[in-house]
Amino acid sequence: MCGIVGYIGTQQAAPLLLEGLARLEHRGYDSAGVAVLGSGLRVAKKAGRVRDLSEDLPKRFTGKAGIGHTRWATHGPANDVNAHPHVDGKGEVAVVHNGIIDNAASLRQRLTDEGVDLVSDTDTEVLAHLIARSAAETLEERVAEALAAIEGTYGVAVLHAEFPDRIVVARNGSPLIIGVGDREMHVASDLGALVRYTTTVAHLDDGEMATLTATGFTTYRQDLTRVQRTATQVDVDPASYDAGEHDSFMRKELLEQPAAAERVLRGRLDERFGTAHLGGLNMDARETREIRRVKILGCGSAYYVGQMGASLIEELARIPADAEAASEFRYRNPIIEHDTLYVAVSQSGETIDTLLAVQEIRRKGGRVIGLVNVVGSAIARECDGGIYLHAGPEVAVASTKALTNMFLGFALLALQLGRVRDLSIADGKRLIAALTAMPGQLQEILDGEEHLAEVAQGLAQAESLFFVGRVRGFPVAREGAQKFKEISYRHAEAYQTSELKHGPLALISTAVPTVAVVPDDELTDRNVGALHEIAARGGPLVVVTHAGVDLAGLGVQRVDVPRSERELDPILLTIPLQLLAFHAAQALGHDIDKPRNLAKSVTVE
Ligand code: G6P
Repeated sequence: MCGIVGYIGTQQAAPLLLEGLARLEHRGYDSAGVAVLGSGLRVAKKAGRVRDLSEDLPKRFTGKAGIGHTRWATHGPANDVNAHPHVDGKGEVAVVHNGIIDNAASLRQRLTDEGVDLVSDTDTEVLAHLIARSAAETLEERVAEALAAIEGTYGVAVLHAEFPDRIVVARNGSPLIIGVGDREMHVASDLGALVRYTTTVAHLDDGEMATLTATGFTTYRQDLTRVQRTATQVDVDPASYDAGEHDSFMRKELLEQPAAAERVLRGRLDERFGTAHLGGLNMDARETREIRRVKILGCGSAYYVGQMGASLIEELARIPADAEAASEFRYRNPIIEHDTLYVAVSQSGETIDTLLAVQEIRRKGGRVIGLVNVVGSAIARECDGGIYLHAGPEVAVASTKALTNMFLGFALLALQLGRVRDLSIADGKRLIAALTAMPGQLQEILDGEEHLAEVAQGLAQAESLFFVGRVRGFPVAREGAQKFKEISYRHAEAYQTSELKHGPLALISTAVPTVAVVPDDELTDRNVGALHEIAARGGPLVVVTHAGVDLAGLGVQRVDVPRSERELDPILLTIPLQLLAFHAAQALGHDIDKPRNLAKSVTVE
């Protein structure tokens, strides 16, 4: 959430900063700004997108050191003044910041009492003033002193006109990665902003700071004692951060699902013994057997796929399992049990609510594993073990391929947990065959896109919709509604099909369509019964189902998906809902990759 870039070296900083910001824009896109140090400190910032800032950048905005920011507003509306960088009164210090300063109100009061004129509504501005007011000798000391006064989370980068040869950065809760170039250094909150320039990177840990000069970097703790961080090569293809021929990242990532699914399964299926091999769990068979309960934690789509994962684990391993929104978990003083396996699910590995839940569990002595996409991210590092999702970089705010790989990660986990218990080798083999077929089946659904685009045109016209499903199908409906609302801005409400008649049926009318998830399973007849109740009230129906399910007389638009094993069907039922949301948003002309008010990684509580 919010993006930071910085550059110091032999080239003009501004174009590089703007290019980096464009790559980080999915992290926040309500305003953007850059500061450069040339003959003096210059700042340009603006509400709107990075391209608006680029178009308006003053001529001769020169300097070979600079910092930049793309914002997702927390304190104060998205306007030019609240955009970062923030500067002190004299215009000597510029600061960009990700995260939240919890004691900003008291610091603002203190500074105002001391006669400082604060111009923005932000928490960050205090930091520029605190640094400017420090009497310490070096920039490092001044930044450390200012940081000692603040409580909260941050990734920050600081420029100071008195110290034109350096950028000082610090991290506490918001990632910062240093990129090492040839007589130039970069810094960014996300690898995606760096890989165009260098793949030699060093990660800062929480509580650490760094000084970047054109020729190198030094790292130290906030008490200014040195820590050694060596830069290493990361194995990434810079092209994987580009949308390529696609007009949106969401579409690219939707279409990448079969290949991504292959990657998460690769090397992890043991056909001979009908089980999965997940070396990263760091648990032997005996420890695995001792698990009495599984508790899954995630936010947004990761929470909904966590509910799908809980069903899988209960069905295959017969271990009681449930999922909870990580954002709520920590606040109810949760009971942490030693024989519960806690599972944190996160694409980014940065979502603060999920990270804080992991820390709470570990503080209380619980064992937590991560299903995480971004290698080396904060959640991955905090966990006792885990399963990397190998979906590749996901840029669109609406999660698609990472979500699919989360489901498959849960399938692997459930298989491994099941096979040390009562799941038979035959059942294990049955599931392995189904998993192996999954990439091809994902492709089959994607190939049916045209029909889904037509159905979506109709749905896009409705102001309000229901998404319904039962048991395994309910988290599918929840995820479908989430996708639809986040990118089409239509009111989409998920309900258990069985609960409709207990209230929401009152809302069904010819103007309120229902998207129903109706797999061919033990509940089909009951599901179809509920569809009749909707149809009888004139409610238009789109039914995501399997060939052979009899929907005669209902007048529905049907979408058939290929069959897997019943336990694995939920993910195949989810893909058409992704496509419906995508095409509805496209029909409505929305900016699909950057839905209003949202951001890709939510690193503030
Ligand atoms: C944000 C995004 C969602 C995402 C959630 C969890 O809210 O808008 O699409 O599902 O964060 O993100 P994570 O990176 O933890 O999976």
